[in-house]
Amino acid sequence: MILAGKKILLGVTGSIAAYKACELLRLLQKEGAEVRVAMSEAATKFVAPLSFASLSKCPVYTKDGNPEGRPFQHIDFPRWADLYIVAPASADAIGKFANGLADDPVSLCYMSSTGDKWIAPAMNTAMYLSNAVQKNLETLRSFADTHILESPAGELACGEMGPGRFMEPAEIVNALRFYSPESEAKMGSVLITAGRTEEAIDPVRYISNRSSGKTAVALANEFLKAGYRVFFVHGPMDVKVPFGVFDVPVTSSQDMYDRVLSAQSKMDVIVHCAAVADYRPKHVSETKIKDSRGQLVLELEPNPNILRDSVKNKAAKQVIVGFGLETDDVQKHGEEKLSKSGADFLVLNTPVVDGAGFGYDRVPFAILEKGKPVPELLMRSKAELAEDVVKLVSAKREAFYA
Ligand SMILES: Cc1cc2nc3c(=O)[nH]c(=O)nc-3n(C[C@H](O)[C@H](O)[C@H](O)COP(=O)(O)O)c2cc1C
Repeated sequence: MILAGKKILLGVTGSIAAYKACELLRLLQKEGAEVRVAMSEAATKFVAPLSFASLSKCPVYTKDGNPEGRPFQHIDFPRWADLYIVAPASADAIGKFANGLADDPVSLCYMSSTGDKWIAPAMNTAMYLSNAVQKNLETLRSFADTHILESPAGELACGEMGPGRFMEPAEIVNALRFYSPESEAKMGSVLITAGRTEEAIDPVRYISNRSSGKTAVALANEFLKAGYRVFFVHGPMDVKVPFGVFDVPVTSSQDMYDRVLSAQSKMDVIVHCAAVADYRPKHVSETKIKDSRGQLVLELEPNPNILRDSVKNKAAKQVIVGFGLETDDVQKHGEEKLSKSGADFLVLNTPVVDGAGFGYDRVPFAILEKGKPVPELLMRSKAELAEDVVKLVSAKREAFYA
């Protein structure tokens, strides 16, 4: 979902996690959304409404009434909003939403909102696992307009371990960004990995490569032109992330792996363009490694293979494009890589030409397709490479729906 320009109503209820709603509000604003806040009475005991009023630059809707001083206090905010997020949602609030009770600002807004509603539960594990809360969550999951934002089990504020933990604000923002509402679904979504990865050796050193990110940026621009929603999961790059893409920065190959695999099911196309490190140091030193003037041996272990595992998880009607960079016997190695990976297409390129490849605008490349002969590599611009990829991917997707 594109959050820029969205009007978001944030409901806050009586949980120890209420303070995290301030951070969520700020992150939503950073995405370009306008946010207003409704609070239950219990929530105002955890965080003062003044904090939310100052951050949102708008009076908060509390039990004392409507900020705009109009009599229809429970209708004004939901009508203004494009979507409603209740974060944190207490056991009590979840019970009210599931059973049609509306006796405080947050539950009143839930009942009178006609848009999409997002609920982020936050409570002690025993409460969360109680039959009552589980039944209420099941009921809410069955509502077409309500989405539950669940955090993986972890340490809770009360010190216990288990489910019920509040999803971190940044994760909530990501869940919203990766969600495709009906109105956006027809556009098609593409996830492009970009840039290089950094594999830590110690707190100040890392292993990386020379990838600039230029090819991925050309791809992002071309997919945007073709009307796709573009998600950019990128490591460090020498070029700027293009305007209009959903930007998910990462550092290591493992971070990139986690991000790509968790978002993959929501994408129509995945383009693995990043220069991912194949190996990482087996042990990362917690302190800076001292110069002993002696020989230093770094033991490396393989990183998870993002392309291979992404292909393993490929959904029907999903298109996957891999990238292969070879320096010797390029066509033969490219063909092997395509068949080993199982990707639909492989963009084969080579850096061993002066004035081409890393950091340059031109690169010798060929696009290999499953079951077709391997073409010659031709020196062309990265913009042309991107055009070709988008054409091939779009043709393949059209064939799915023909
Ligand atoms: C210190 C403290 C922390 C609490 N934390 C939570 C919590 O994380 N989740 C929850 O469901 N209830 C929690 N409660 C209980 C709720 O605040 C209580 O059920 C309240 O009535 C919820 O009201 P509301 O849903 O209108 O906000 C907590 C209570 C206290 C005193």
